[in-house]
Amino acid sequence: MRVLRTRSELDEVRAEHARRSVALVPTMGALHEGHRQLIARAGEDASAARYVSIFVNPLQFGPNEDLQAYPRPLEADIAFCDEAGVDVVFVPSEQEMYPGGPPSVTVSAGELGTVLEGRTRPGHFDGVLTVVAKLLNLVHPTAAYFGQKDAQQLALVRRMVRDLSMPTEIVGVPTVRAADGLAQSSRNAYLDPGQRSQALVLSRALNIAKASGVHGVHAVFEEAGAVLAGEPGVKLDYLELVDADTFGPVDRATTHGLLLVAAWVGGTRLIDNVTLDLGVTVER
Ligand code: PAF
Repeated sequence: MRVLRTRSELDEVRAEHARRSVALVPTMGALHEGHRQLIARAGEDASAARYVSIFVNPLQFGPNEDLQAYPRPLEADIAFCDEAGVDVVFVPSEQEMYPGGPPSVTVSAGELGTVLEGRTRPGHFDGVLTVVAKLLNLVHPTAAYFGQKDAQQLALVRRMVRDLSMPTEIVGVPTVRAADGLAQSSRNAYLDPGQRSQALVLSRALNIAKASGVHGVHAVFEEAGAVLAGEPGVKLDYLELVDADTFGPVDRATTHGLLLVAAWVGGTRLIDNVTLDLGVTVER
């Protein structure tokens, strides 16, 4: 496995892979089982060279979010990639990624970047899309892999690639869960054992909602809302249903909804989501 720190090293190695497909898994490090699954999916095309980027992108952190405290277990991450069969790890510094300081030209996530996660994290998705665009331009991957847990991020990356005619296939990979249902996230490391067990209410609520989908939207919110309200240690930010394909509002024609939840468990904000089969005869 090659560990590269500069764009010129990356150009050299990428040229060696010119005749192969390249599969990129962009990450901010602190790698966990969810990332292992992304890397495994990236390796399903056995002929592809597997690249992982590790870069804690300052552009996607708000002024009240602690960029400095974000975990950076670099040695462990590199060992993780090696063990997972990665060919190339790209670990650029901030100077390498943004040599002129914060870029003055950035990607705008548009209206979808201002709702749900974007409501509490203004500018977050502009920062995500800007760094993803840069990584796609630097690595030129055939395909890039993103987790469905960050469903809004995945939808926006797909939109950017479509709207800006970028030649990379975007692959969404199902959420990886612990045996008790908790969605894998780097933020789970911030939970103490009590909070971790409180956090299970998110996946419990989504499971109930999934089972209620055929009974209509009202039942979905009633059932999931009751489960969430039963855990006073968890402060709900939003529970919202969107069209799974367009991320727009659910209307009569929608058969596959995406139910998204965000909540605070102590000082940690967690998100999760599930697709719902809404049937064809539901009331709205
Ligand atoms: O999902 C993440 O880890 C980040 O948002 C990403 C896509 C690597 C961009 O920094």
